[in-house]
Amino acid sequence: MPGQLTRILLTSDQIQQRVRELAADIERDYADGPIYLVSVLKGAFVFVADLARAITRPAVRIEFMAISSYGDQKTSSGQVKVTRDLDVNIEGYDVLIVEDIIDSGVTLSYLKRLLEQRKPKSLAIATLLDKPERRMQPVEVKYVGFRIPDEFVVGYGLDFAEDYRNLSDIRVLGA
Ligand code: IMP
Ligand code: MG
Repeated sequence: MPGQLTRILLTSDQIQQRVRELAADIERDYADGPIYLVSVLKGAFVFVADLARAITRPAVRIEFMAISSYGDQKTSSGQVKVTRDLDVNIEGYDVLIVEDIIDSGVTLSYLKRLLEQRKPKSLAIATLLDKPERRMQPVEVKYVGFRIPDEFVVGYGLDFAEDYRNLSDIRVLGA
């Protein structure tokens, strides 16, 4: 039966340590000027909250988008739609897309193309998790928290059918 939690893949401590490292990299790379963290709802809400608080400079602005991809609950269908757009103009700004996980790459390659058209000064991607084995569309990712094997994970914002987002560890969901 689906929905059985199994082992912990990444503990809360491991995640927090890595988030601090990513924040330090971002601070080093974006020396001045405001940076927009554009986070993809809902899965990235925990990661962006921790990442933003771990960045002490430069000015950090937090924006949210929502995207739906049609398919069953564990895979992307390849069709992506924006269900909540930004309400700021990002033209001329440094923009960092913040995602929970890259799987097929369909969502992020779509989002990157979309935001590129709005002429940001720079556009890059930070993802907490990457499942490289699953890639169907290539995506260039500047900051990766952890590369993980092809297993379905939940916790730290990631859900299965809307459950488990509240867990502070990341766990593998048993089949
Ligand atoms: P992609 O378009 O296939 O790269 O899908 C990315 C999205 O699928 C993520 O933002 C998640 O919402 C969801 N997703 C992919 N793999 C997992 C997983 O292991 N656990 C929870 N959600 C996942
Ligand atoms: Mg997501």
